[in-house]
Amino acid sequence: MSQINQSSIWQSLSQHKKDIESISLREMFHKDKDRFNQFHIQLNDLLLDYSKHHISKETIKLLVNLAKEADVEGWRDRMFKGEIINSTEHRSVLHTALRNQNNKSIMSDGEDVMPKVRNVLKKMRRFTDEIRSGQWKGYTGKAITNVINIGIGGSDLGPAMVCQALKPYGLKTITPFFVSNIDGADLSQVLEKCDPETTLFIVASKTFTTQETMTNAFSARNWFLKKVGDNSQIKKHFVALSTNQYAVAEFGIDTENMFEFWDWVGGRYSLWSAIGLSIALYIGIDHFEELLKGGFEMDEHFKTAPIEENIPMIMGLLGIWCINFFDLPTHAILAYDQDLSKLAPYLQQADMESNGKFINRNGEHVNFHTGPVLWGEVGTNGQHAFYQLLHQGTEIVPADFIMPIQSHYAMGKDGNEHHKILLSNFIAQTQSLMIGKTYDEARAEIEKQGYEGEDIESFIPQKTFEGNRPTSSILFQKLTPKTLGQIIAMYEHKIFTQGIIWNINSFDQWGVEYGKQIAKQVLPKLSEKTPTTDFDGSTNSLINYIKKYQ
Ligand code: F6P
Repeated sequence: MSQINQSSIWQSLSQHKKDIESISLREMFHKDKDRFNQFHIQLNDLLLDYSKHHISKETIKLLVNLAKEADVEGWRDRMFKGEIINSTEHRSVLHTALRNQNNKSIMSDGEDVMPKVRNVLKKMRRFTDEIRSGQWKGYTGKAITNVINIGIGGSDLGPAMVCQALKPYGLKTITPFFVSNIDGADLSQVLEKCDPETTLFIVASKTFTTQETMTNAFSARNWFLKKVGDNSQIKKHFVALSTNQYAVAEFGIDTENMFEFWDWVGGRYSLWSAIGLSIALYIGIDHFEELLKGGFEMDEHFKTAPIEENIPMIMGLLGIWCINFFDLPTHAILAYDQDLSKLAPYLQQADMESNGKFINRNGEHVNFHTGPVLWGEVGTNGQHAFYQLLHQGTEIVPADFIMPIQSHYAMGKDGNEHHKILLSNFIAQTQSLMIGKTYDEARAEIEKQGYEGEDIESFIPQKTFEGNRPTSSILFQKLTPKTLGQIIAMYEHKIFTQGIIWNINSFDQWGVEYGKQIAKQVLPKLSEKTPTTDFDGSTNSLINYIKKYQ
């Protein structure tokens, strides 16, 4: 079957790229004062400005046709209807049902999933209210003050990111901790800060078989029992979030203390499910529901807006324009908000685990780039680390600049000094990356600084900037639960749009499974007395070297 890059629309886009690439972004803005108006979309208080991309009206028209060619809208509708679009795992993809706010049924495998979703939410409400009010007591009668979420990947990154992002909404008497790494340092450093009397462990694992999570959970249970010495107290201090009731019971957690979700919720799309329990405990269930509402609003927009006005679809298409036509395979997430410091790692899993694939839905090797190498850091910290490369490096890195207009934190003069400086840096970066600095501008600047003669000539090339670096700006009023919900869902649907156009299944993760499989083969070898000869030369030598010195 032919691939998308064989289509005539792809060929038209390739030709169009050749026509447009020699016109700089600076020229585009110079020629068209109305560019911002043409290339921005607003949804409630969320603004996407994509005018600083190498595009014209014609580009958007062609990209919209590409989305139509790939039937993005048809696939989107199939996802929302609960059809089995995760073909390799034979599952529906229904994380959107978890945030559905209307009364309509959503069917998966012949069953309406909504009653189950609502029941778990009710159970989460009861539980979080009890913990937050102090009604739920630990084994010595004290209220819970520390909540340790033990999980990894989607069972960690989403809740950790959201708890960090919504700190201003967090209950002061509860401290959320997240333990994910199998490296004993992670659990050990958290346990040092906790007292078993007031600690609640949340074992978060869709499968309840993940090696890191289960090892950490057993070690946490041992730590608890060593201090408490009474198995019957486990039920006051351990709860589970999982799809695997049997394994939860086997571990020794009362299934009454289990918050269920289902196989149609992908791990990296699961923060909306019971996996969000740590979020609800920290910010309260009402705020958690606001987060869900924000996600739902973005779903409605994604479902109903025409492609050219559809924020996630446009973001997905711009990504394809950069990756496949301008050959720019990385993407930076640059949030100008300290509380979004975990957004980039969260989106790394969401994007790279979803679209980091070279095999398409038909089992063919794709012959174009797919998911970008995604990375990032908060502003302004990143400016003093890697932005030099963004401005003058040989790699061009398309970036999303993300910025709240108002801060939760009053700091400095008038309570707004810090935030104004942050805002000005955000604006300055997107502007300078786009506009650059010409030879003549650099010369004028250097002359003004008082340099003379040869100094000027040798200095000009160093102070010249090509500009022409594509960026999107995402602005919103304030980082609230609802806005955060919109932003997360926006990225989920952007990833979906790209996966459909590349014809890959964004909902499996065989690469990760492969790593897990090999780790299981290696583990027993580390304890064997005799030298290992089972693997390749390098692997055997590494194992034997470790055995010699461990
Ligand atoms: O990283 C691979 C993965 O399978 C993710 O998709 C998932 O989020 C993570 O492991 C954790 O899985 P589980 O929730 O089953 O422990």
